[in-house]
Amino acid sequence: MLTCYDASFAALCDAAGVDILLVGDSLGMVVQGHDSTLPVTMEDMEYHVRMVARGSERALIAADLPFGSYQVSPAQAYSNAARLMVAGAQMVKLEGGQVMAHTVRFLVERGIPVCGHIGLVPQSVHALGGYRVQRDADRLMEDGRAIEKADAAMLVLEAIPAAIAKQVTAALAIPTIGIGAGKDCSGQVLVLHDMLDIYPGRKARFVKNFLAGASGVQDAIRRYVEAVKSGAFPAPEHTF
Ligand code: KIV
Repeated sequence: MLTCYDASFAALCDAAGVDILLVGDSLGMVVQGHDSTLPVTMEDMEYHVRMVARGSERALIAADLPFGSYQVSPAQAYSNAARLMVAGAQMVKLEGGQVMAHTVRFLVERGIPVCGHIGLVPQSVHALGGYRVQRDADRLMEDGRAIEKADAAMLVLEAIPAAIAKQVTAALAIPTIGIGAGKDCSGQVLVLHDMLDIYPGRKARFVKNFLAGASGVQDAIRRYVEAVKSGAFPAPEHTF
């Protein structure tokens, strides 16, 4: 999985073999220049989903429900998830563990595939006290089990120690997608602008610049796909 925000990059990622394009609300930081994902709107997400859907032919398109668009009620989540599906998404992603399980089930029962997201959940950056590694193993396990029980299709694990991600992955039947969660997840995701070294902001420990040594952007993305599939990425230096 790789994040993607427009048609040209979607075509490149598709051709390079990326299985899932995530139209992430990280676009608020790497495209719009905000210092968090909180200002991203439903209209922003629809706009970017439409572009990615036009550029991609093969990859699954997942899209983030942005901050404030799903936390009030399952009905609010459904009407906003439906907008992303109409724009071209095939799955929506939402942040949160046990507290969001009821909403995940509500969406799945009504035909919307859902990807969960636990660990460092950036929409809660102020409640978490910053972009910090999350180390509460019991809570992460309970959150993962709750999202799986609600019938989510997959689960992003962000910024958690590799040993905990390994345990959560082993305990669940659904695939886990790690970002800063070590090599023992079922798959990996990075923010496109981080792995191409385009984003001028601070780089997290788990980011690797795949453009370094590549012949171009598509080659860099291909190298990422190969490194994830072979298990070469993430290496210990990208891991907590
Ligand atoms: O918005 C995003 O890019 C994400 C990934 C970091 C998983 O949620």
